[in-house]
Amino acid sequence: MSEVARVGLLGRGTVGAAFASLIEERAGAVEAASGRRPEISGVLRRGEGDFEEILAGSDLIVELMGGLEPAREHVLAALRAGKPVVTANKQLIAQHGDELFDAARGNGVQVRYEAAVAGAVPVIRTVGEGLATVQLERISGIVNGTTNFILSEMAASGAPYEDVLARAQELGYAEADPTEDVGGADAAAKMAILARLGFHTPVDLADVSYEGITGISPDDIAYARELGLSLKLLGVAERHGEEISVRVFPCFLYAGHPLAPVEGPFNAVTIEGPSITEITLSGPGAGGIETASAVLADVVSILAGEAPVHTPGRRLGIARELDSSFYLHLEVADRPGVLASIAEVLGRAGISVKSVVQRGTGSDARLVMVTHRAPERDFLRALEEISALEFMRAPARAIRVVEKEFV
Ligand SMILES: NC(=O)c1ccc[n+]([C@@H]2O[C@H](COP(=O)([O-])OP(=O)(O)OC[C@H]3O[C@@H](n4cnc5c(N)ncnc54)[C@H](OP(=O)(O)O)[C@@H]3O)[C@@H](O)[C@H]2O)c1
Repeated sequence: MSEVARVGLLGRGTVGAAFASLIEERAGAVEAASGRRPEISGVLRRGEGDFEEILAGSDLIVELMGGLEPAREHVLAALRAGKPVVTANKQLIAQHGDELFDAARGNGVQVRYEAAVAGAVPVIRTVGEGLATVQLERISGIVNGTTNFILSEMAASGAPYEDVLARAQELGYAEADPTEDVGGADAAAKMAILARLGFHTPVDLADVSYEGITGISPDDIAYARELGLSLKLLGVAERHGEEISVRVFPCFLYAGHPLAPVEGPFNAVTIEGPSITEITLSGPGAGGIETASAVLADVVSILAGEAPVHTPGRRLGIARELDSSFYLHLEVADRPGVLASIAEVLGRAGISVKSVVQRGTGSDARLVMVTHRAPERDFLRALEEISALEFMRAPARAIRVVEKEFV
């Protein structure tokens, strides 16, 4: 008879409850894959269970509480006691990953966190193990299902952001307080984790720049559709020689981009490098049972003794001078010479225009254009200059455009 693996469960909410059912249901499969039969040895909730007792009676700890404290304290205590940990907590890994990985290394145990990024999609395993020795150039991801659902619904219905957010809340795709999701902070934490793993460097969350989707208008989505573009909240981590950039921003994708067809609450990550061209993984990014599946896979890996190494290399610099293409939406007075004046400002900044759509709206007009790639700094300076032109009827709106580019 195989040895029992005693699993201490911290948190029994959406994911924790699904995990508790799954581990029971799949105990035979876990045993077949790892040689050990798992059993829940204790559960910690608010007002239920004692952490020290659970730790003493467990061979490994599964942290599904969320939040930074006491999750960090408990995970550190487990690692220091020589017990491996599985967590789904992206903020914990993004903000305290180095401390936790040091403690794990120092005590010869693993900390695994597949479910912290993209739910059921095995992207941590793929980047950290399958592609561990591949030189990666770029990781792009739709890593927040709430915002992808909202943008997909806005595109399908033409409804404004606020209405679609309310619907997402009704359907359970958005939290009562959606700030972390719609403001981009949730995606930023996940991209910091992916960048660290993919580029073997420490990444501070403070170095991840992010914007959310709260300012997006259905107009932009409709106009851009005419140009063959769809809107996503994208995380992009790139290596530029000895520097990296990690950013989250709303952006338009051309139809050929592997992330363009990803709709609704799904997540997807595209990984690029010279030797792999491009690999895209997609699937459910959240949900109790979906996330619990990823947690259980980590438990199996630990019980089977698979040990990925989490030693980061030297710290790479942060690149701040980046190039982008932009979608530009201008509401202007409809009269001769307007387009020429705008083209003149863009031309002086070295920005060329790839496509333009123009619509008359009575005495005013809308000009929607997509630029070719240029330094972002030059574009933003030109945007300021355009916004100050006397024929502008509303503040100019600009959204990045990402073309499919192989490295
Ligand atoms: N939900 C998803 O789809 C999803 C997807 C990917 C990753 N995750 C991550 O998975 C983790 C869990 O998420 P969830 O949605 O399952 O959260 P949840 O439903 O809010 O459950 C949290 C659980 O932790 C317990 N808990 C929280 N703080 C505690 C404290 N101070 N002391 C003792 N127990 C405490 C809660 O106790 P009570 O039961 O007493 O309230 C509850 O059982 C989070 O890190 C989250 O980011 C979730």
